[in-house]
Amino acid sequence: MASSVEILGISKRFGKGERAVEVLKGIDIQVEPGEFLILVGPSGCGKSTLLNIIAGLEQPSAGQVRMGGRDLIGVPPAQRDIAMVFQNYALYPSMTVAQNIGFALEMRKVPKPEREQRILAVARMLQIEQLLHRRPSQLSGGQRQRVAMGRALARQPQLFLFDEPLSNLDA
Ligand SMILES: Nc1ncnc2c1ncn2[C@@H]1O[C@H](COP(=O)(O)OP(=O)(O)OP(=O)(O)O)[C@@H](O)[C@H]1O
Ligand SMILES: [Mg+2]
Repeated sequence: MASSVEILGISKRFGKGERAVEVLKGIDIQVEPGEFLILVGPSGCGKSTLLNIIAGLEQPSAGQVRMGGRDLIGVPPAQRDIAMVFQNYALYPSMTVAQNIGFALEMRKVPKPEREQRILAVARMLQIEQLLHRRPSQLSGGQRQRVAMGRALARQPQLFLFDEPLSNLDA
């Protein structure tokens, strides 16, 4: 089920003293359940940093992230019920495409028949059905990107975060 997301006064500084860089300054964003929001900005402006903070992979220097009214700061990434597609894909190299897509479902103990059905449905949607038995090293950049999307889409999380998910794909 989808949840609302509130970003309240988020700031992020990397480094200390003279070398410190302030990447995010007092960001406020409200996203309603079912809403689709796109962040656009030049390279280095902090898009990935903000997504990493929402996912819990990076701690903010100040501010709050709330999902469904619940404060997420301090909640480990695995307990946030968020699926993320990383800018660099981060596929598991030793697993096949099917295993990559189904991994999160296996971790959540989804029964095998349902798992296989969801893997196939997602693979059809992304047109990678014929690649299910291959490993990431045997795929093109755009195919890898679709597997990374499939891995997120196979789950039914409260929130999807896609970091530049279309950069390698044709329209
Ligand atoms: N761990 C880190 N330590 C120091 N600086 C960092 C760190 N991570 C990111 N930065 C800096 O923070 C800024 C924002 O980086 P970020 O990756 O969020 O940008 P982006 O908007 O996603 O860019 P792109 O469009 O190129 O992906 C950049 O200037 C980057 O160099
Ligand atoms: Mg980025």
